[in-house]
Amino acid sequence: MTVDTHTQTVGVIGWPVEHSLSPAMHNAALAAMELNWVYLAFPVAPERVSEAVGAVRGLQLIGLNVTIPHKQAVAELMDELDDAAEALGVVNTVVRREDRLVGYNTDGPGFLQSVEEMGHSVEGKRVAVIGAGGASRSIAYACARAGASQMTVLNRTAARAEAVASLAADKGGASDVGTAGLEGAAAEEAVSGADLVVDCTSVGMYPNVEEGPVVPGGWLRAGQVVVDVTYNPRETTLLRAARARGADVVDGTGMLVHQGAIALGHWCGRQAPAEVMREALLSALAR
Ligand code: ATR
Repeated sequence: MTVDTHTQTVGVIGWPVEHSLSPAMHNAALAAMELNWVYLAFPVAPERVSEAVGAVRGLQLIGLNVTIPHKQAVAELMDELDDAAEALGVVNTVVRREDRLVGYNTDGPGFLQSVEEMGHSVEGKRVAVIGAGGASRSIAYACARAGASQMTVLNRTAARAEAVASLAADKGGASDVGTAGLEGAAAEEAVSGADLVVDCTSVGMYPNVEEGPVVPGGWLRAGQVVVDVTYNPRETTLLRAARARGADVVDGTGMLVHQGAIALGHWCGRQAPAEVMREALLSALAR
């Protein structure tokens, strides 16, 4: 790749950002698409977020990805938001259109594509969403909008589960949403009765790879689809238990690839090469 006076810039802001896998995925895709763009990681301290967003206009950047802890602050600085970003108040992708900044949230759509590419769907399905942080909010909203027939949000801290359930009902339009803790009969019924179980917690994430599973493996069964948003390791304790019981498993790399591919599609107006991005992600993870 040659950087010259025509090279355009896109990147990710976060704090910290040096562990981001997005530069590896996106630069591989940009090369494959023969775009004279470069994707950089910008460490941006919280007090500098508005300056960083201003620089998208000032430097006429293509746009940005946004990661922790800036996703909410950036939503406040946009001229326009897509439906998910508006409903969640969270932006992971900024697209500059002339001097207007449009904020998108591609996490939920990325999740849906990661499930669909494995031959599964959400419409009409009973879904158990475990966890109540940022990933859970995006996924609960996306599943509600995709027509899940029933949803239970399970979380260690009840108040946070209630907040995600309200979001799925009020903003996502889900009509049948409940909550549960992580233990007891209600939790077991929600998980074992679900068609799709999604672990949105950090349980089992590197470096605590032996932690978990977040719910007993005995609650999982063949015929279910079990998704873990964790991508490092790819096989968490929950997915190991799910696989042992004959469930279909989906690891977190698919969501990461597709949220990125959808973002790149917004920036360049073309279909991004998801397979190239996946290959780059998997080699970066192997390192
Ligand atoms: P993110 O924004 O990445 O989704 P987060 O906001 O830190 O992450 O949320 C982490 C989720 O993992 C929360 O649902 C958290 O439960 P609480 O809301 O009760 O804190 C859950 N979590 C983290 N560690 C856990 C553990 N050891 N057992 C059960 N749940 C855990």
